[in-house]
Amino acid sequence: MLLTVEGLEVGFGAFSPVDDVAFSIDRGEILGIVGESGSGKSLTAIAIMGLLSRIGGRIVAGRICFDGIELAGLPEAKLRRLRGGRIALITQNPMTSLDGMMRVGPQIDQAARLHLGLDRRAARARSLELMADLRIPDPARVYDLYPHQLSGGMKQRIVIAMALAGDPELLVADEPTTALDVTVQAQIVQILVELVKRRGLAMILITHDMGVVAQTCDRVAVMYCGRVIERAQVNAIFEDPRHPYTQALIRCIPRRDMTRGSMQPIPGMVPNVANQPAGCRFNPRCPRVADICHTEIPGLRVSAGDHGVACLRADAA
Ligand SMILES: Nc1ncnc2c1ncn2[C@@H]1O[C@H](COP(=O)(O)OP(=O)(O)OP(=O)(O)O)[C@@H](O)[C@H]1O
Ligand SMILES: [Mg+2]
Repeated sequence: MLLTVEGLEVGFGAFSPVDDVAFSIDRGEILGIVGESGSGKSLTAIAIMGLLSRIGGRIVAGRICFDGIELAGLPEAKLRRLRGGRIALITQNPMTSLDGMMRVGPQIDQAARLHLGLDRRAARARSLELMADLRIPDPARVYDLYPHQLSGGMKQRIVIAMALAGDPELLVADEPTTALDVTVQAQIVQILVELVKRRGLAMILITHDMGVVAQTCDRVAVMYCGRVIERAQVNAIFEDPRHPYTQALIRCIPRRDMTRGSMQPIPGMVPNVANQPAGCRFNPRCPRVADICHTEIPGLRVSAGDHGVACLRADAA
């Protein structure tokens, strides 16, 4: 496995919005992380990128093992070398990654100069190649434009080119298309999937869109209130969902148009993260709830085919 996350707990002071998260991903694979707003998807991504300290958080427990390197507790200088190099992040809003005052081409060059040690000329040639790879028309012209001169979809392609410029092995894409039009979303997702497969990269794709998951991911981790409540191969998630939350998510996908199948709300509310119910965090909304669910926190039990489910009543259905 290229990346293995085990027992990850992310804390802010005494409060841990991410707890006991575990999954792994290999080269050439796309792992989808899905879950309602506030379920801890972005914090998990931020933890993998080694950026928690910037937002006042820390890794309280667990391991993040990247190609044999333990990232939790790695000194900042070493993290900085990995970040934008072997591990790259793509975020939802291109303007968090782009400098509005700088032409886009040189912004792509930066990662190649920093992480691959290329000189200005070589970095530019590489950036133009990456831009062509991302099907940006007329790369030499676009290279000299400023972000505000580009459409949202083109800006996001530039951000992806920046992420690729350092020659990463792992891409962490946190809702990379959420801010874009539906048709543009589909193009960008397609480009990302092609890249991952062609270059044998690994990608963590965080999304609200179960349709995108069905079409692109090899494996899926479903998060609820800071925990992975189910994880499996993509087919198993859709054909044999075992956690009542996953089952509800899949029931909520509009049948006729999977590509637009964004996640629909499930009855009830996600509990306030600072004020979790005792026992299983899904118990207030669960159709299968029993006494034990109020006292015991279910751990992820993994069965054949690496299908894991965190439900004390998984066999009751
Ligand atoms: N900087 C922070 N300080 C304290 N708590 C935070 C911080 N960032 C996030 N949290 C808490 O962690 C929870 C999970 O946040 P996170 O951003 O990971 O959710 P998410 O699954 O990415 O949601 P969304 O789908 O809306 O992006 C939030 O509900 C919030 O309570
Ligand atoms: Mg998020």
